[in-house]
Amino acid sequence: MRRNLARRGPRPRRPEALTGNEPNHAGEPFVNPVDALGRRSEGEAVISIRPLTLADGDELLAIDHFAFVADPDEVPAEQSLEGLDMDRTFGAEHDDRPGELAGIYTSFDLRMRVPGSDADDGARLVPMNGLTAVGVHPDMRRRGVLRAMIRHHLEQARDRGDVIAGLHASEPVIYGRFGYSVASHDVHYSLGSGTKLPASEPITALADRTDVRTLLDLDDDTIARRLHELDLVSPALGTVVVPEAVVRRRLRDNPTSRVGKEPRRALIATREGRDVGVAVFRREVTWDDGNADGHVNVTYLTAVDEGALLALGRRLVEMDLMSRVDLGQRGLDDPLLNWAGSVRTRTVRVADALWLRPVEVSGMLTARGYATPLDLTLEVRDDTCDWNSGTWRLVVDETGEAECVRSDADADIRLDVDVIGELFLGLRGARALASLGRITERTPGSVAALNSAFATGIQPIGGTGF
Ligand SMILES: CC(C)(COP(=O)(O)OP(=O)(O)OC[C@H]1O[C@@H](n2cnc3c(N)ncnc32)[C@H](O)[C@@H]1OP(=O)(O)O)[C@@H](O)C(=O)NCCC(=O)NCCS
Repeated sequence: MRRNLARRGPRPRRPEALTGNEPNHAGEPFVNPVDALGRRSEGEAVISIRPLTLADGDELLAIDHFAFVADPDEVPAEQSLEGLDMDRTFGAEHDDRPGELAGIYTSFDLRMRVPGSDADDGARLVPMNGLTAVGVHPDMRRRGVLRAMIRHHLEQARDRGDVIAGLHASEPVIYGRFGYSVASHDVHYSLGSGTKLPASEPITALADRTDVRTLLDLDDDTIARRLHELDLVSPALGTVVVPEAVVRRRLRDNPTSRVGKEPRRALIATREGRDVGVAVFRREVTWDDGNADGHVNVTYLTAVDEGALLALGRRLVEMDLMSRVDLGQRGLDDPLLNWAGSVRTRTVRVADALWLRPVEVSGMLTARGYATPLDLTLEVRDDTCDWNSGTWRLVVDETGEAECVRSDADADIRLDVDVIGELFLGLRGARALASLGRITERTPGSVAALNSAFATGIQPIGGTGF
């Protein structure tokens, strides 16, 4: 959600018909009376949500460009709409201005690498419904349009059978109220040119057997497919796999947005004829009295194992005329960062990355695997998705697989629903959340048990934005 449509890429698809008051994909017009949540902010205001089509493109982009302060000429309109799933793209109308869009949002069908059980070697891919491009018309701000759209989005997600919802937040203050919480951190750091990367002997041997080639000319379609396929098998906890069409859009290299920078390039790592990693980058260089000071900005980095990561890292730090390599969307346990000397020797910036919340509490809690057996009752409060509120019994067996069902028993633990998003990838432990007062322990020992079961032993990476 942090990104606007234009920045995420796009290409033209021509409008089909738009009549204005189509039903939503479930076949019913969706009217979200804000007062259903007790949040009506303008008298008897009613906010209705309808599906958008490509014929709404201009109005949709006008709101998107204003909301994200974007230059409409930077990316052609048809390119901005590329990769949008119109079945999941909606507009809000406020009854003060019927027939005009008051807000927009879209979502993507994504995959996310989450903790696994004994059965899947510690990590697995699960579906996640990713909300993005949320924008409200400037005249309609703070009148409940976002609230209505979020509620609509989560109901749609539930009707689709999704159990996990995610987003990237433009501002940290907005989404906690809707039950989302930070599930991974985006770790940015730089490696100086020539940085030594002393990995263990087996990883070094694997890197030595990895061939790395530079693609001077990027074929968007081919590289998008290769990146997408590698993300699907990348074992890194927190990896977000976005649809291939979205990767392609993000790789589009418009001369207008490039403003004099070189086109994107890629390093492709292969071993025994198979792709094992890709780094997409762009270099920038300034000249001072004939001396070059350049940096390599890495926009995608994915690898199927640490040998491939090391092979790519070695090539990135040895480019001529460059003094540093800038990396983002990594994690604090990123091997590259740690081979380079960890946070002790780097300037590391940490920001929130993925925010998660349950669409269905039981579905989300059983989607991941656990580190230790557990049998606890959790009392969950969810003001946005009331179907999640109540007491749940979470039982984890010896292999790390979970079951979660409604329970009438007294709760061992009480929490608001957003805590689940924060625990989910192991970013924070239950002990830390309890000490912040966000988990209330009613049965002694239950926070410690929750802490052990959710432990992942490794920090998630920031993962690809969407
Ligand atoms: C952020 C944005 C979508 C909010 O839309 P909105 O329709 O004004 O939000 P709502 O009126 O539904 O607000 C719902 C609640 O969130 C709060 N809120 C919304 N945006 C907020 C912000 N930027 N900062 C603090 N609080 C905010 C409201 O005060 C309200 O609080 P309440 O629950 O106490 O009543 C809109 O301002 C916008 O388009 N901003 C620019 C683009 C952007 O940042 N999009 C989000 C991308 S992640």
